[in-house]
Amino acid sequence: MIAIDLIVTTAQHATSSIIKQAEATADKLSVPFIPRKGLSLAAIKQEYQISELLVITGNGPVIHTAAGEYFFHLSMAELRIKNLKSGNHDHMTTAMGLTAGMSVLDCTLGLATDAIVASFVIGEHGLITGLESSPLIAFITGYGLQNFVVASDPALISALRRIKVHNADYSEHLKACANNSFDVVYFDPMFRAPIQKSSNVKPIRSLANKQPITVEAIRQACRVARKRVVVKETTGSGEFVRLGIKTVVGGKYSSIHYGVIDCGPWQTGGDQP
Ligand SMILES: C[S@@+](CC[C@H](N)C(=O)[O-])C[C@H]1O[C@@H](n2cnc3c(N)ncnc32)[C@H](O)[C@@H]1O
Repeated sequence: MIAIDLIVTTAQHATSSIIKQAEATADKLSVPFIPRKGLSLAAIKQEYQISELLVITGNGPVIHTAAGEYFFHLSMAELRIKNLKSGNHDHMTTAMGLTAGMSVLDCTLGLATDAIVASFVIGEHGLITGLESSPLIAFITGYGLQNFVVASDPALISALRRIKVHNADYSEHLKACANNSFDVVYFDPMFRAPIQKSSNVKPIRSLANKQPITVEAIRQACRVARKRVVVKETTGSGEFVRLGIKTVVGGKYSSIHYGVIDCGPWQTGGDQP
């Protein structure tokens, strides 16, 4: 278990079931649970000298960081799926070459916006696994994917529920994956300069793993992927060249592009990428 500088508490006036949930969460993350007892969050932070608090509320867990609140939400996933349903294309799923029934390993799950869109496209016969090295982000996203309710769209709910979440570092996890075990391996690293200045994005930056992708990770991904390795980066990023990625696709005016490596079936001793 990774040590976390964190305390779990509840919203004010919590029901006994929320208190039980908070105690179980603290147990799961191996961090202390502090009963709220009418205290302000600022008072708890001050008393225990911590910068992050995980607050269990009736609407799900919320992390209070110095940069703002972090909680599960659909972000752009709902709109992107709506666009796909209307027959428009999505640059990410096109770059991945996704069709129904495929399998995807999302190495950088984050809030799972991209994974939800991929899960929707591959459908109920597809398989999607998301890796997230931050235990707190993995917890918030894992909880949201299993519990978030979108009243109007059962297909969207199923897309969320099908995503398997592992709190793992992709560098280690990829090494343990068999050759050709996923159709697509995907990376969306934090390394690039932030584009969005929105208050929703700031908290993830303080919690996330900001290490750049290594050439070795791309090599492992090419071994694990049956069809493609896809890397999301800012348009014009030097990362594509650094990682040896020659094919870059995306919208003409988009600030995001996708590097694509086509991987044939991996043979031991092969020379990919
Ligand atoms: C830009 S965010 C991904 C956003 C995601 N594509 C989405 O749609 O919500 C990058 C995420 O990858 C995670 N990450 C970075 N390096 C990682 C690694 N080596 N293993 C697993 N997760 C990693 C970060 O902690 C962060 O949550």
